[in-house]
Amino acid sequence: MTGPITVAICGCGSRGLDAYAPYQTAHPERMKIVAGADPRPERLEKLRKTYGVAEEMCFASDDALLAQPKLADVMIVATLDAAHVKAALAALDKGYHVLLEKPISPRLDECLALREKARQTGRAVAVCHVLRYTRFYSALQALAERGEIGALQTIEASENVAWWHFAHSFVRGNWRRQDETSPMILQKCCHDMDIFRWLAGRKCLAVQSFGSLSFFRPENAPAGAADRCCACPVRDGCLYDAERLYISDPHCGIEHIGPNWPVDVVATDPTPEKLRAALETGPYGRCVFHCDNDVADHQTVNMLFEGGLTASFTVSAFTESCHRTIKLTGTTGEIEGDMEKNALTVRPFGQPARVIDLSERAGEFSGHGGGDFGLLDSFFALLASGGTQALTGVEASVESHVMALAAERSRLSGGATVTLAEFEKEAVG
Ligand SMILES: NC(=O)c1ccc[n+]([C@@H]2O[C@H](COP(=O)([O-])OP(=O)(O)OC[C@H]3O[C@@H](n4cnc5c(N)ncnc54)[C@H](O)[C@@H]3O)[C@@H](O)[C@H]2O)c1
Repeated sequence: MTGPITVAICGCGSRGLDAYAPYQTAHPERMKIVAGADPRPERLEKLRKTYGVAEEMCFASDDALLAQPKLADVMIVATLDAAHVKAALAALDKGYHVLLEKPISPRLDECLALREKARQTGRAVAVCHVLRYTRFYSALQALAERGEIGALQTIEASENVAWWHFAHSFVRGNWRRQDETSPMILQKCCHDMDIFRWLAGRKCLAVQSFGSLSFFRPENAPAGAADRCCACPVRDGCLYDAERLYISDPHCGIEHIGPNWPVDVVATDPTPEKLRAALETGPYGRCVFHCDNDVADHQTVNMLFEGGLTASFTVSAFTESCHRTIKLTGTTGEIEGDMEKNALTVRPFGQPARVIDLSERAGEFSGHGGGDFGLLDSFFALLASGGTQALTGVEASVESHVMALAAERSRLSGGATVTLAEFEKEAVG
């Protein structure tokens, strides 16, 4: 390929337009957006104004975009979870390479159908497991692969979602109901499952899981709480008061973080006035104890891999900050990592520990620790070289989805062990 790789964006929301489109501004020689689809006119307007996409190349739906002849080299599919596979299958049939947001699908049969289609068409499909493209996890994987701590025995990891992030995305927001999108362990943690499979370098055989929605329920509402924060007589003492959160909270209030995620999800091009108006009537102004959410707010998963390697993982809404921690143990040493500190501590047994500081050039690594742009760098380099096997291709990604969906099956059955080979066989029918 010569010149920038051309891209059509299906779903110009937070990921399509705010996470990936800015790559064109940073690297105009590598990526050129030529078309897009979204039912929200303000998103298409932003696509036109900020990225110079022609009016006639902006479409009101994925179907309308995919009814056109092939318009670009790559289709970025960044609609919501249940709409991914239909668009990705159609895009592959049209001859696009596909950059597909995770999860592939909440349905395992659809994940398997996409894997089959990618095999048949021979096009490149990269699933957006952005963590693999961070300096933090790539350094950790390289250490494990070259035997820095001998033979890997255990993986112990935590995903700290953060109370305000959980309330935003999984209580009030898009991913609050599993029938509309995905179970939380797939939606949030297919990334983690993908990392465990990558670090392990071998297949996961079985999983077992516990967890529940314990806190964001009506019985935990403060006495007298209303359905919406703006009309609530007890909002003053409430941590989750929406106006306080989105206007002045240090983690996610516009006064501290500017017009960025997550306030740009509440209102496009947000200002305090636009946010207050959106909170009056929109989903993000609802009481966190009176929403229609049903996904778990904490969950643990135990995993058994080939060769006896074991892994344990906890995801929790109830943490102060939003970050991941991990510990690997091997026959000759251990490694501990904290993604917030962007550092790994390697402790070879009987020798001094050493700290690997990955925060150098930290300013360049916004967006999932640098993973968002790292993914695009890697995918475009692959296409430029004529390759089709992405680091997070659909073959690898499907394994993480099988692990997550099997964990959900286990959680719903009270923690029973689920064997992955049998679980996958069921989906094939
Ligand atoms: N890789 C990651 O780390 C990561 C992080 C967050 C979200 N995601 C995933 O990215 C996807 C999008 O999430 P988001 O946060 O951008 O959500 P979003 O709601 O901001 O974006 C989705 C967009 O799709 C649009 N849309 C709805 N129906 C459509 C249709 N028929 N045709 C075209 N567009 C349509 C919506 O209007 C919206 O703008 C989700 O599947 C989510 O799981 C991935």
